[in-house]
Amino acid sequence: MGEKLRVGLIGTGRIGLVHAISIDENKDCELTYVADVFIDGAKKISEQFGGKVTSDPLELINSGEVDAIVIGSPTPTHIGLIDAAIDAGVHALCEKPIDLDLKKVDAMLEKANSAKTNVSLGFNRRFDPNFESIHQRVQAGEVGTLEQLIITSRDPGPAPREYIAVSGGIFRDMTIHDFDMARYFVPNIVEVTARGANTFCDYIKDEDDFDSVNVVMRGSNDELITIINSRHAAYGYDQRLEAFGSKGMLVASNLAKTTVRSYTADHSEQREPYMEFFLERYAISYRSELARFVESVKTGKQLNPSYDDGRQALFLAEAALESAKTGKTIKL
Ligand SMILES: NC(=O)c1ccc[n+]([C@@H]2O[C@H](COP(=O)([O-])OP(=O)(O)OC[C@H]3O[C@@H](n4cnc5c(N)ncnc54)[C@H](O)[C@@H]3O)[C@@H](O)[C@H]2O)c1
Repeated sequence: MGEKLRVGLIGTGRIGLVHAISIDENKDCELTYVADVFIDGAKKISEQFGGKVTSDPLELINSGEVDAIVIGSPTPTHIGLIDAAIDAGVHALCEKPIDLDLKKVDAMLEKANSAKTNVSLGFNRRFDPNFESIHQRVQAGEVGTLEQLIITSRDPGPAPREYIAVSGGIFRDMTIHDFDMARYFVPNIVEVTARGANTFCDYIKDEDDFDSVNVVMRGSNDELITIINSRHAAYGYDQRLEAFGSKGMLVASNLAKTTVRSYTADHSEQREPYMEFFLERYAISYRSELARFVESVKTGKQLNPSYDDGRQALFLAEAALESAKTGKTIKL
């Protein structure tokens, strides 16, 4: 590859820091600009990884000093920033979800689809080495015809009430990753049935949201996809995948930091707890996601999930919510 890609980072919170590290570690790009309305956040990232700072993301986008941006600011800012990036001829990797409102997402769909610049969505789990490996092996026919896919995704504990209140609900906020994972394996989903429950968290119920959901979806080749979500798990962050087909099954289990097992008079095969949460469990996937985005920009290929993939995941989230609220199966 030729010159380094000049990357601007917008938003320097939890996920912003992850992206700053990825940009810093990637030899094909450099962090040239950092924006956050909370200027001290931008300064902190800039001191560590370089780049100019501003409190105005539009100043960054229109500076002529960035070829690409990574958007890690809150969800309601995403569409406006993607829009501004396309107008400025700047490539954009935007965090999920695009927005909580499908109508707003649809209003930008044509512009995003026909943009001359790259527009990518941050569904990082596609780049998890375990899930990516299963995907490649399913594509190569190792399990024969894919018949059933089971995606288990449970957080270690519920987000605070303030987060839940503006999250858009579990389907748009949490299951959205699993809807994208489902589409990674089965791009064409024709039916959604979802059930939600309030099993343990009063404030989630008070916010008219579920703390526990199961979704069953049907693919166009009659594949059955099951998604299992909970906002808590007593044993830690639970992220597993099972692809079952006519010739066998591929399974990705939970990860711990090491594979060391302990054997004593009281227990056998005891391991340390699973990796704490998404920052640890999916660390490699964020690096690979950024690397793939840089490669997309350099080669002109769409190697990451697209705006349209972001739209499809949100569409499935809306269908699941409707199904859970009405008790009906939604045909797409
Ligand atoms: N892919 C993933 O695994 C993953 C994980 C966490 C969060 N996210 C997504 O990333 C986004 C941010 O989440 P977070 O947890 O990092 O939030 P956060 O609150 O930790 O950080 C957001 C940052 O954006 C800044 N900000 C607010 N408004 C801004 C604006 N208009 N312009 C520039 N900066 C602005 C805030 O000051 C803050 O520093 C959300 O859309 C979320 O859904 C994705």
